[in-house]
Amino acid sequence: MAEFKELPAGAPVTKQVTTWLENRFPTAFEAYRVHMSEYYAPKNFNVWYFFGSLAMLVLVMQIVTGIFLVMHYKPDAAKAFASVEYIMRDVPWGWLIRYMHSTGASAFFIVVYLHMFRGMIYGSYKKPRELVWIFGCAIFLCLMAEAFMGYLLPWGQMSYWGAQVIINLFSAIPFVGPDLSLLIRGDYVVGDATLNRFFSFHVIAVPLVLLGLVVAHLLALHDVGSNNPDGIEIKAKKDPKTGIPLDGIPFHPYYTVHDIMGVSVFLMIFSAVMFFAPTGGGYFLETNNFIPADSLKTPLHIAPVWYFTPFYSMLRAVTDDMVNVLCVVVGAAGVLGFLMAGLRGIWRWVPLIAAVVIGLLLKTFDAKFWGVVVMGLAVLILFVLPWLDRSPVKSIRYRPGWNKILFGLFVINFFILGYLGMQPPTVVGTIIAQTGTLFYFGFFLLMPWWSRIGEFKPVPDRVTFHAH
Ligand code: HEM
Repeated sequence: MAEFKELPAGAPVTKQVTTWLENRFPTAFEAYRVHMSEYYAPKNFNVWYFFGSLAMLVLVMQIVTGIFLVMHYKPDAAKAFASVEYIMRDVPWGWLIRYMHSTGASAFFIVVYLHMFRGMIYGSYKKPRELVWIFGCAIFLCLMAEAFMGYLLPWGQMSYWGAQVIINLFSAIPFVGPDLSLLIRGDYVVGDATLNRFFSFHVIAVPLVLLGLVVAHLLALHDVGSNNPDGIEIKAKKDPKTGIPLDGIPFHPYYTVHDIMGVSVFLMIFSAVMFFAPTGGGYFLETNNFIPADSLKTPLHIAPVWYFTPFYSMLRAVTDDMVNVLCVVVGAAGVLGFLMAGLRGIWRWVPLIAAVVIGLLLKTFDAKFWGVVVMGLAVLILFVLPWLDRSPVKSIRYRPGWNKILFGLFVINFFILGYLGMQPPTVVGTIIAQTGTLFYFGFFLLMPWWSRIGEFKPVPDRVTFHAH
């Protein structure tokens, strides 16, 4: 047991109270020091660094509003839609709680996408923060599952048919697919059993995992220390006497106050949307979802909510023609590997043989299955980003200038895919989505090559900081 601290007689009452508490719960006080008052964060954080704390804020908001929604919501296919309408019309402040939760879901994805993009431009996933990034990617996967299952709960037309389409995709997986989709649905069609299991996962299982992952994400971050817009390790330059990084400032009070400013701006924007455009013009809550689910009436156009549409676009892009294009791409990669990878002896043949095997596999299973694979890989590829990026510097600030254009194109491409995913498929749209899908994967798969080339700027010893 830690030593009891004694106070001199006449010490202020506040000091007496905190010392009394600290003597009985030293772990809490130690945690406060390690993670707040003695956690030294780089002094040059910019607006991009608001989004981590904002993600935490939205997470808490979703949990709190969720608790209140569950008090009135009925997870029963015969009652769910009406119970949501009851919340909206009769429960005091129910409309506010519901809109906070539904608009909050979109806000969560906006904040998290910006948070991930910050990680990409400042190379925050690179050594020693690989695990911070991997926990982040796992959080992103959980968030997608959470949002997908939550969307079924209001039991509107889009809830129902969206779930129907996505769960049916699993049946395209060879051998286990049909049984897997039956297991997810709990029935042969989306129904009461599906609603019950989605409810249970949405309110307890996934949030628990999500919270655990967020704790792991932050503990791992605090073990290695935060990156910053310069991508410089501040721990490399410490005060010889105190051992404190020269470019570090205590998280509390400096960044607690800084983050309050981010929170204030966020809440202003969030409130404006929630009070004046809670459905986000049909993007946050789709118009069709105000019609009760009807298993006999398929809506003309079924599209997922905006945050899934870039990935949905990639799924739809995989047609039979696209599989042929993929065969050509794989074949070309195999020949290039054979000629240029510098492998010797029998190993030289490995890229060629691998290309033939992948080509045969591509032609064995149908395009729908490969669409599901492509959609899954589009998220999973993020996990290996720390090993794809071979650039000698972290931050975009010191990378070759054209890297900025490439990242810009990546963002534009992601938006185009997102837009196309919301639209009914057309011939031209499909060709654009196919090109966009190739670009998305090309960006990541060719990163080991392009991230090393060009002229890098010298990285300074200390962070750049201009007082404001
Ligand atoms: C519920 C979702 C999330 C929460 C609450 C959360 C929270 C945080 C917080 C509070 C920080 C420290 C402050 C900051 O650097 O902004 C942080 C850092 C970080 N997060 Fe997240 N995060 C979430 C999701 C993600 C996702 C999805 C990724 C990536 C796939 C990610 C990657 C990172 C990285 C790489 C850092 C270190 C950044 C740096 O030091 O430059 N996070 N996160």
